[in-house]
Amino acid sequence: MPDRITSKTMYASLAGYLEDLQESGVEGVPVAIPREPHPDTPKNVSHVKNLEELACQVQDCTKCGLSAERKRVVFGQGNPKARLVLVGEAPGAEEDRQGIPFVGDAGMVLTRLLKAMGLSREDVYICNVIKCRPPGNRNPHKDEIVACSGYLKQQLALINPQVLVALGTFAAQTLLATKEPISRMRGHFHPMPGHKNLAVMPTFHPAFLLRNQENREHFWEVWDDMTKVLAHLGLPIPDKQRR
Ligand code: URA
Ligand code: SF4
Repeated sequence: MPDRITSKTMYASLAGYLEDLQESGVEGVPVAIPREPHPDTPKNVSHVKNLEELACQVQDCTKCGLSAERKRVVFGQGNPKARLVLVGEAPGAEEDRQGIPFVGDAGMVLTRLLKAMGLSREDVYICNVIKCRPPGNRNPHKDEIVACSGYLKQQLALINPQVLVALGTFAAQTLLATKEPISRMRGHFHPMPGHKNLAVMPTFHPAFLLRNQENREHFWEVWDDMTKVLAHLGLPIPDKQRR
């Protein structure tokens, strides 16, 4: 499959400069700390149980037409007490097969970016706005967004993170209810509508970085955004040199 070879080659070259970023040797800084539950969280039930219960409930969801063609619902993965949540658009083919978000080519880029930040996938929580794969990876329709958005809201209420990274145009525009281009939104925090004390940092989608590897500046822009996220969380910022 030539398609596969191309994306592998692209990945290898992008991995090279993600490795450069990783040189500082900061490993696995815990980003999750126990905190008070969100005021909307029901009392007397633990965080994990609620998130798990919600996940169980979503497994059988047929609230929109995407349920007809999905293989697996991709609810989310990571630390139920994460202070940092990363939200993408919708599952792709590999995510649909495995039931786990960001496990394809874009996912490998995201995993390496987190590592460069001194974090692992287990430190943070990763999910999508839409929980089932749109056929052929088409953009989600309005009715599907409306049908699914309640689940992300509940996830955020249960996790109660401090920072949300919106990965790409779709996530940023949907979460912030705006048509602003990602290039204008990225680089600074935006308040999350309907959530107190949740700062949203829009940044480019890892798939966009893969598609535009010749432009290293996009990669460094994402890195700049992530250093602001680390600073906001009070975490150490690995020292990376632009080459
Ligand atoms: N792209 C997304 O937006 N989400 C995934 O889970 C995978 C790729
Ligand atoms: Fe339900 Fe969301 Fe899947 Fe639609 S995309 S079937 S609303 S979980």
